[in-house]
Amino acid sequence: GAVELGPYRHYMQKEIFEQPRAIADTLEGVQGITPDLFGDKAASVFGQIDRVLILACGTSYYSGSAARYWLESIAGIPTTVEIASEYRYRDSVPVPSTLVVTISQSGETADTLAALKHARSLGMEHTLTICNVATSAMVRECKLAYVTRAGVEIGVASTKAFTTQLAGLFLLTLTLAKVKGRLNEAQEAAHLKAMRHLPAALQSVLALEPQVMAWAEAFARKDNALFLGRGLHYPIALEGALKLKEISYIHAEAYPAGELKHGPLALVTSEMPVVVVAPHDTLLEKLKSNMQEVRARGGELYVCADADTHIQAEPGIHVIRLPEHYGALSPILHVVPLQLLAYHTACARGTDVDKPRNLAKSVTVE
Ligand code: G6P
Repeated sequence: GAVELGPYRHYMQKEIFEQPRAIADTLEGVQGITPDLFGDKAASVFGQIDRVLILACGTSYYSGSAARYWLESIAGIPTTVEIASEYRYRDSVPVPSTLVVTISQSGETADTLAALKHARSLGMEHTLTICNVATSAMVRECKLAYVTRAGVEIGVASTKAFTTQLAGLFLLTLTLAKVKGRLNEAQEAAHLKAMRHLPAALQSVLALEPQVMAWAEAFARKDNALFLGRGLHYPIALEGALKLKEISYIHAEAYPAGELKHGPLALVTSEMPVVVVAPHDTLLEKLKSNMQEVRARGGELYVCADADTHIQAEPGIHVIRLPEHYGALSPILHVVPLQLLAYHTACARGTDVDKPRNLAKSVTVE
């Protein structure tokens, strides 16, 4: 039947707030890390692969881009991520021992399906999908699958599909790490415990909505915005910029913060709000000097920090502090304020949030 809006103004807002439940459902039944989570043939396939190629479009491409950091650092597996519409047409060098991973909310995106077929035509037979629709073409076409349980997503701008994809990709990372002998029992238990705590952690991030709404009032009056992140959170900055573009029609770009000096710094004036994804990780000190470069040019900083980040609010520096520091799973929490920022900025500008102009929920033609 029809999905009810309940107390929410838009499906996008409802879907943002459904994320604790969506993650819990996606992880339901996961007792331990085992290849079986991905299908009967997974144990045999995972034993034969020594690299990963991720293919996807749009928001799904960004979850894949974050997963690359996990796959290389935790599982020690060389990983590349490609935009499906590029991969399908370029000459590339196939490596048969590759695990080809497609990521798709709908499982029907034409470019991603074509990229999968292209990889197979080059002799890469080990295919896996992270997909939200069990009955989709993508799940049928791939040898292995992890079906996320976000539930039906109606808003064109993807939210809960993204965070559940990240959950599925983290499970894939842990599974490959275990198969490759890089995950001991204590590490497995610690990761599983952190994953099980995600719904509660997400709930406490969602409670920051009023603070994000205050930011959105300022963003609604801007024409441009810059998003910065480093490492694992660079793809989160990209996703934050995409959300803002899609539904508020504000021109937004994301950069890895270390690249600021190679171009985008020229754009920074007092008219350029700069969103910084700033969890307390090993790159925080570097990020702080990037922030000073922005302040020195009069750019206003909007910082998503966390419990352990020592950055204080002051004139020109606005800080929203996520209640917990979340280690490897931090991207799943840090994307939420960016989703809310895009949502409330779009509401303030009066755009059609659930059906932004020129965009489709699922692009099934080229
Ligand atoms: C469209 C949607 C995006 C989505 C992309 C990929 O552009 O508007 O929200 O990320 O397709 O879709 P998929 O279903 O393959 O994840």
